[in-house]
Amino acid sequence: MKSVYDNEMKLEFLSKSNNEAFARISVAAFASQLDPTIEELADIKTAVSEAVTNCIIHAYEDAEGIIQIKCKIFATSIVIEISDNGNGIENVDIAKEPLFTSKPDLERSGMGFTIMESFMDEVKVESILGVGTKVTMKKFIKKKEPTEEEGEEGAKIFTSFRI
Ligand SMILES: Nc1ncnc2c1ncn2[C@@H]1O[C@H](COP(=O)(O)OP(=O)(O)O)[C@@H](O)[C@H]1O
Ligand SMILES: [Mg+2]
Repeated sequence: MKSVYDNEMKLEFLSKSNNEAFARISVAAFASQLDPTIEELADIKTAVSEAVTNCIIHAYEDAEGIIQIKCKIFATSIVIEISDNGNGIENVDIAKEPLFTSKPDLERSGMGFTIMESFMDEVKVESILGVGTKVTMKKFIKKKEPTEEEGEEGAKIFTSFRI
């Protein structure tokens, strides 16, 4: 059964580096409906930033292409799908290894996927060489119960800072 919390959105934008901040802030704004803590929101922003940066730098390199983000929220979780139609990844298992980078010359750290995996609860990477890549990430957002002293109003004030 569909809960009142269920919601979804879709974004499409060009693989310009300026759009990395746009993507991260847009997803955070959407995720704020779940009343995440500032820390949970920071985790989501960091993971989105890594995935989008990968599309800009690795998928399209010097070319320009479309990055798509689909985002769904449920009562206690958010699912974010970030995809491109770029170069694709030859071997996903190797790409996901900490410190692996195909662009050491650009001073990449090779930690993007490791960061996504540590800040989100689930990360799935699907890629076809020459076709594109889709990264699906899920994070559980704990439900916040107001304490007795805070009551309903206190809880509202406490969570009113959102992005
Ligand atoms: N969207 C993508 N399209 C093509 N290749 C990618 C994509 N995302 C990641 N990769 C490949 O996976 C490697 C590891 O990514 P990551 O862990 O973020 O490290 P870094 O970006 O620092 O190289 C990249 O060096 C690149 O080869
Ligand atoms: Mg990266």
